[in-house]
Amino acid sequence: MITYRLGNDLELVAVIELYRASTLGERRPVNDRERMGQMLANASLVVTAWDGEQLVGIARSVTDFSFATYLSDLAVRLSHQKQGIGRELIRRTQEQGGKATIILLSAPKAVGYYPRIGMKSHPSAWMLGAEERLR
Ligand SMILES: CC(C)(COP(=O)(O)OP(=O)(O)OC[C@H]1O[C@@H](n2cnc3c(N)ncnc32)[C@H](O)[C@@H]1OP(=O)(O)O)[C@@H](O)C(=O)NCCC(=O)NCCS
Repeated sequence: MITYRLGNDLELVAVIELYRASTLGERRPVNDRERMGQMLANASLVVTAWDGEQLVGIARSVTDFSFATYLSDLAVRLSHQKQGIGRELIRRTQEQGGKATIILLSAPKAVGYYPRIGMKSHPSAWMLGAEERLR
């Protein structure tokens, strides 16, 4: 049975291991412990999924709990994928966010996932990387 918890009071080592075990680690700075620690500590909404005492899923968001929730990382352990855990993590993220809209950027491996579960793509999403400058 999968249980769900709220909060970012998690062991960083276990979180990094989950990112690797889901493949999301390929696209996140998992070798930079300090940065991963900041990502976890400063997230305002973290929902996790547990199989007993094993961490099997995470939804890590930055939210104002009112208007916008940026769902930065969604990851489910490969061994536990396609059992509805990802969907439930997003459902609980939405529930906690009040009236906030959930916004995210899909990883290449998940581009088919979000429309499948009922999310809409936005034709006008814009990014500015930390290394990029406005002109
Ligand atoms: C994307 C991810 C979070 C989905 O989690 P999950 O728990 O496996 O997904 P769910 O079980 O909630 O899947 C819900 C439905 O979507 C389908 N689905 C799952 N992964 C999919 C994918 N990558 N593409 C298309 N459909 C997918 C499931 O088969 C299921 O369909 P059903 O309702 O007909 O049974 C998980 O596969 C993952 O961690 N992937 C690697 C990391 C990643 O890319 N994360 C996204 C970052 S933006």
